Amino acid sequence: FIQRRKKWPRFPPGPPSMPFVGNILQIDFNKPHIELSKLSLKYGGVYSLKFFWKNIVVLNGFEVMKEALLKKSEDIADRPPFPIYEKFGYDGNNKGVVLARYGTSWKEHRRFSLTTLRNFGMGKKSLEERVTEEAGFLSSRFQSEQGLPFDPRFIINNAVSNVICSIAFGDRFDYNDSKFQQLLQLFEKALKAESGILAQTLNEIPILTNIPWLVNKVLEHEYYIFAFMKEIISEHKKSFDPNNIRDFIDAYLLEMENMKENNDGTFNETNLLLTTYDLFGAGTETTSTTLRWGFLFMMLYPEVQLKVHTEIDKIIGREKTPTMADILEMPYTNAVIHEIQRCGDIVPMALPHMAYRDTEIQGYFIPKGTTVITNLSSVMKDETMWKKPYQFYPEHFLDENGKFVKQEAFMAFSAGRRVCLGEKLARMELFLFFTSLMQQFKFEIPNDQPRPKEEAVYAFTLSPQPYKMCAIVRP
Ligand code: HEM
Repeated sequence: FIQRRKKWPRFPPGPPSMPFVGNILQIDFNKPHIELSKLSLKYGGVYSLKFFWKNIVVLNGFEVMKEALLKKSEDIADRPPFPIYEKFGYDGNNKGVVLARYGTSWKEHRRFSLTTLRNFGMGKKSLEERVTEEAGFLSSRFQSEQGLPFDPRFIINNAVSNVICSIAFGDRFDYNDSKFQQLLQLFEKALKAESGILAQTLNEIPILTNIPWLVNKVLEHEYYIFAFMKEIISEHKKSFDPNNIRDFIDAYLLEMENMKENNDGTFNETNLLLTTYDLFGAGTETTSTTLRWGFLFMMLYPEVQLKVHTEIDKIIGREKTPTMADILEMPYTNAVIHEIQRCGDIVPMALPHMAYRDTEIQGYFIPKGTTVITNLSSVMKDETMWKKPYQFYPEHFLDENGKFVKQEAFMAFSAGRRVCLGEKLARMELFLFFTSLMQQFKFEIPNDQPRPKEEAVYAFTLSPQPYKMCAIVRP
């Protein structure tokens, strides 16, 4: 610590660290976002930690995040290396989108993914139609529970995942498909393993990734998911027809052909696998966890649920299928969805960033190559920005006339260069799934169950503890 301060006089302060391990043992990886926010009370909005010999800068609070993510967006747009993932073929240029270094390959793949998502929205079936159709399947599935208690977790997961699967693979999976259900469960386990201290340690001390059983402990679930993706890609290659582009994978295969002559090498089979995986991975857990928070808050706050029901009945009625156009006339429901995201705080620390060049934030010097953690949780609960930061209070997003108001400190999707690529799709899914189900059902805590807890479980995302609910068809 003393050495570090000598080298960079304006380097952010931080807690004293232990020899060799640094501060890693001081962080509880079951609730890192809370620990990081606590440290900011003592060391300020910009402070530093040491994980083994690597410096990490942690950014906290709205003002700091605004400067970093919006004003100095490119300065921190890079991602640190994640050596454990090299086992899947991640290397210099081949890293898909989520973990890609800030550079040509990331730019090309981000642009390609956004354009392709948009194009599929303009094709035979619009994105909105796909989501609406899936919301219909989910609603029938809820109805089949006949108002009895059930755990909605994997059904919601399946429904949300189907939207991205239909775009990426051209296929949806039935809610009774046990192979797909197993895959979704493996995905949850993978997130847990990859956000723990062992994964951190392997990434900081890459030589340890040569010990197969250690790596397997982190990646054992991931191998199955990659095998599943590889099988789907290989089926696509067999039936590929450049005149009939069915989905994202086909569009990518076509791009590979078109770029054959003029290819800087970034559109290749490894990147196809990793980018498809990114869309599937980033697009499933996040949205479905938000919806699970949503139904939980509706059960816990029946007065809010009643107001949403009243607005739906007034604006959409019981018969018409909700559409995105309705959101403009539904300020209360829109505010509730935003508050679900704010309170749920689903991706509390976003993904690690890395300084792309030497930079300064709040006057502190951050050298190129430093890992930067954007503690989004500290913004979503920033006491200077929210009236009731720790309470579920949809009025955060309403003015005195009941009109919806955007809040600058709402950073659920992060901001700047690395802002969530699926934000538009996610907003559409949240509104259409939530509104369609609220139109049909009233959500209640089962009589024989205790009141579900609001404390979250951390596994990269913050999700509610498993709960059961009754979906009662509205009279
Ligand atoms: C990145 C949140 C849904 C695709 C991110 C990040 C956050 C986030 C916080 C990290 C940004 C950063 O590093 O600063 C969410 C939330 C969602 C959601 C809260 C749902 C409620 C989706 C969906 C997709 C998606 C549906 C897929 C289409 C991605 C990708 C990235 C990303 C590809 C990486 C972007 C990059 O590194 O350039 N998301 N996301 N997300 N998200 Fe989402």
